[in-house]
Amino acid sequence: MNTKSNPSSVSIAWFVPAGLIVFSALPLLFGALRLNELITGAAITPANARFFASPLPVVVHIVSSAVFAMLGAFQFVTGDRRRWLGWHRAAGWVSVISGLLVGLTGLWMTLFYARAANSGDLLFALRLVFGSGMIVSIGLGLTTIRRRDVLGHRAWMIRAYAIGLGAATQVLTGIAESLLVSQRDALSNALFMGTAWVINLAVAEWAIRRQTAHRAHAGSAVPAPSK
Ligand code: HEM
Repeated sequence: MNTKSNPSSVSIAWFVPAGLIVFSALPLLFGALRLNELITGAAITPANARFFASPLPVVVHIVSSAVFAMLGAFQFVTGDRRRWLGWHRAAGWVSVISGLLVGLTGLWMTLFYARAANSGDLLFALRLVFGSGMIVSIGLGLTTIRRRDVLGHRAWMIRAYAIGLGAATQVLTGIAESLLVSQRDALSNALFMGTAWVINLAVAEWAIRRQTAHRAHAGSAVPAPSK
């Protein structure tokens, strides 16, 4: 089997971050619109009053989620990471800090913002669970790499990124909800938003297992040293 890298494996390596960035563009676009509204002082309505009452958490949330989504995507470029170790480390620290800010401001807004229409107890609980899950995953991503457990580090950072990108999948499940549910309410909202996080974590576990199996296979393919 030819083990040399070929142009198609290079394009596949870049396909993942490019796809992740395109995927996260929709919530980031909504974020840019919200920032514009806050900066230009748009009319205050029941839909945006909570953001005007306390703009700092949502502004930090939107800016840090843009950094986390963009920079985090490049952390998953496969290939010879040793060549890019300096970049991976520097971008990794910025991603970790921005990811923690996303999770912490998400939790803060869940706990202290006035509830939006159709935002009930189940969504409140789901946001607490997944927001905390994102923070814990980033923490475990740091402790594993300090123990030089590269596969463990990769797995926890993929999980953190998957939870963060729930915001993008929620745009799609929100569209599905409006097509499938005639009368949207707090329960349908929570179920469709929660489904987005479950889908992302399922894809993350699939990617983690695939990578682990690939590494194990590559390891077993190395010929045993001759006696
Ligand atoms: C990279 C990932 C994320 C992106 C891109 C993102 C994006 C956004 C944006 C653009 C808003 C403003 C929504 C608006 O203007 O109506 C927002 C609000 C919010 N986000 Fe995130 N978010 C992310 C991750 C998370 C996570 C993990 C949580 C978990 C707790 C979370 C919880 C919230 C909450 C509670 C609000 C306020 C919702 C409201 O009151 O309507 N976000 N997010």
